[in-house]
Amino acid sequence: MSVLSGKHIVLGICGGIAAYKSVSLLRLFIKAGAEVQVVITPAGKEFITPVTLSALSHKPVVSEFFSANTGEWHSHVDLGLWADCMVIAPATASTIGKMANGIADNMLVTTYLSAKSPVFIAPAMDLDMMRHPSTQANLSRLRSYGNHIIEPASGYLASGLEGKGRMEEPENIVVYLERFFAERSDLEGKNVLITAGPTYEKIDPVRFIGNYSSGKMGYAIAEECASRGANVTLVSGPVSISVKNPGINVVRVESAKEMLDECRKAFPTSEISIMCAAVADYAPANPSDRKIKREHQEVPVITLVKNPDIAATLGKEKRSGQMLVGFALETDNETVNATEKLAKKNLDIIVLNSLRDKGACFGTDTNKVSIIKADGSRTDFPLKDKAKVAADIVDEIINFSQSKA
Ligand code: PMT
Repeated sequence: MSVLSGKHIVLGICGGIAAYKSVSLLRLFIKAGAEVQVVITPAGKEFITPVTLSALSHKPVVSEFFSANTGEWHSHVDLGLWADCMVIAPATASTIGKMANGIADNMLVTTYLSAKSPVFIAPAMDLDMMRHPSTQANLSRLRSYGNHIIEPASGYLASGLEGKGRMEEPENIVVYLERFFAERSDLEGKNVLITAGPTYEKIDPVRFIGNYSSGKMGYAIAEECASRGANVTLVSGPVSISVKNPGINVVRVESAKEMLDECRKAFPTSEISIMCAAVADYAPANPSDRKIKREHQEVPVITLVKNPDIAATLGKEKRSGQMLVGFALETDNETVNATEKLAKKNLDIIVLNSLRDKGACFGTDTNKVSIIKADGSRTDFPLKDKAKVAADIVDEIINFSQSKA
């Protein structure tokens, strides 16, 4: 079975002679078991008909922001979130320029700008356009954004000239993607436990003690692990986001105690456990079973009791070969506090993020982390999208577990 089986692929097609090759590419993706959504530029439709593409992909082809007939809005954001990868083949000089410079005047470029997944770009153009400094600068800018450029081959071009500019053959593009995803199947069959979101500790039936965690960081780690083949159990506090990958087993909880109970069920069979939840350290000692009324009462005093420390509990139960990863959310004295937590909770790795860094921690789509390991080594990462931070964290976990094996 191909590693592309079950993958969601957005296939972007631009207006170039090589668009005829996208039909073969689409067929190969479908044959490999992928689900494909075609997004075509207006110029692309001059070269290849949406009817063919829709028949082969079994989905309507998306090209405009709105359907002219129904007024239905095509959401580039939803498409960007749906995709496990986006492949732009052929990518013309014009679209490459728009992507590199954020010129979002068509559905393909807006989808690209919304994509959280890896993006593969297969340029196709005349040799002089290909080697022009402007095209080369745009391509190197796209590379610097983490996109993958599938270099064009040399050969006979539609212009009658010979040189570099032929879109890579569809079979080779499929092999390129299969290699990419195979390298990322490094968690195949592994059980991974992840906690995410806040916990809510009841004061009364309408009030709770909670925190600002949105779950985005933990959910991104869950998606990353699942996309690398892991069996993921995600124990999630109350959040308003959901998972994309239907294979992720989401267990919803509210309080720290419930989270601990669920973690203890999954932990014994988990090779890797990643504690990303912002667990409330304290809970009201005597939550009221009726709403505390404002009238007829002095200002209430809420007595708190200590919640269980989930990471520390699992740290005590950890067996050799199990990897336990914690987070440290700090506001000051970051490294000292994180290193203390690493030792105290018997963690193998701690991911440090600080509220002093703009764009990091709660609610944001980005985070800035340092990864500190039990052997004392440390890696500092720049501010990145949480999906990319998740990939860095998983890479570090795998490298560390291999170095210990
Ligand atoms: O959800 P987002 O909006 O995307 O925000 C992400 C995040 C900021 C919540 C996340 O990146 C993060 O830092 N999570 C850990 C938050 C936290 O509780 O940190 P801490 O330093 O208080 O706890 C240290 C470790 O012990 C954490 O792994 C925590 O999950 C765990 N812990 C803490 C308390 C407790 N009672 N039980 C625990 O298991």
